[in-house]
Amino acid sequence: MKNIYFLFKLNRYIHSTRLKNLGVYLLHLLGKRYYGIFIDPVLSCNLRCRMCYFSDPEKRKNMKGSFKEEDLYKLADAFFHRALKLQIGCGAEPSIFPYNNTLIALGKAKRIPYISMTTNANLFSGKDWLELVEAGLDEVTISLHGLHKKSYEYFMEGASYEKFHEAMTALTSVKQKYPGFKIRINYTVNSDNLLELHDFFDVFGSYTFDILQIRPIQQIGKTNYNNFSWDRIYDCYDEIIKKIKINCKERGITCLVPSKYDIVKEENKDSGITESTYFYISPRYIWESDFDLNSDSYESYSKRTHRGKKLLKNVFHRKKSFDRDKKNLNYEVI
Ligand SMILES: C[S@@+](CC[C@H](N)C(=O)[O-])C[C@H]1O[C@@H](n2cnc3c(N)ncnc32)[C@H](O)[C@@H]1O
Ligand code: SF4
Repeated sequence: MKNIYFLFKLNRYIHSTRLKNLGVYLLHLLGKRYYGIFIDPVLSCNLRCRMCYFSDPEKRKNMKGSFKEEDLYKLADAFFHRALKLQIGCGAEPSIFPYNNTLIALGKAKRIPYISMTTNANLFSGKDWLELVEAGLDEVTISLHGLHKKSYEYFMEGASYEKFHEAMTALTSVKQKYPGFKIRINYTVNSDNLLELHDFFDVFGSYTFDILQIRPIQQIGKTNYNNFSWDRIYDCYDEIIKKIKINCKERGITCLVPSKYDIVKEENKDSGITESTYFYISPRYIWESDFDLNSDSYESYSKRTHRGKKLLKNVFHRKKSFDRDKKNLNYEVI
């Protein structure tokens, strides 16, 4: 089912929200795959990154809960047959969950075309990475908030710079064995760590990875680091990014980087169908507030709540009024 790429491309090329919604409705009606599952199997984290809400002691107290292994089988039966993508790790840290291999293997058994994970990488050993890929993980995104030991450990409080390098070494050797496995680095950038990008390939150039994403900081709650202004570095942004882009091109690395104009107005980009195709799942919240994992499945819940009719209604709505702040493709602000 590698026509997932065709569907992703189609989504990008179709600008009409109405047409997209019609597509979603038809895929639902025909029993086809059409949504992405974004799951936080645990709601806690081993770190307290300064740009993240885990740096807020109050928030940390509330971020609790973990699925049991048996819950994963229920989730797989309820949702996986219709999923195009399974994203593990959205708003918390998946590496502290002990059953990731089971979760991934269930996704593969239910033929989900693409399974990815986002992690701070500090807790996984070389053996862990290999097992994740052998269970069926297609892509990993590892998060980085600083290039050098001092800034990395400052911005990612509780993390070890050496562990991150160990992870890059281990992933480089996994990639040799499984070349199709994709490694993405997500550098969350702010005006105090942008200049370091000058040295990116001096520090990480010897590792193998496929995608480098530079992702501007966003306000995602109460956080320890609070500088959201780009004024100080606006003028040198282009020069730094140019160097990164040239290096990526030479090495065959895909570079995802916002333009100077986009960083200052960075907001969640909604393709217009996010509400109906984004299924967020955590120990506290499973897709919809009245969904009961012990008795519901996607099909039974859809029948009970007349989902088909609701999806059809979306086709004729003039303007969507979806909750943009709550939902984002890579992480959930809970
Ligand atoms: C909330 S984390 C959850 C997954 C995992 N714990 C990790 O860090 O990769 C998801 C992504 O959000 C990024 N992130 C954290 N704080 C952010 C902020 N204020 N603005 C934008 N992205 C942020 C992280 O770097 C990470 O790539
Ligand atoms: S960014 Fe990820 S690793 Fe850092 S505190 Fe937030 S959830 Fe944890």
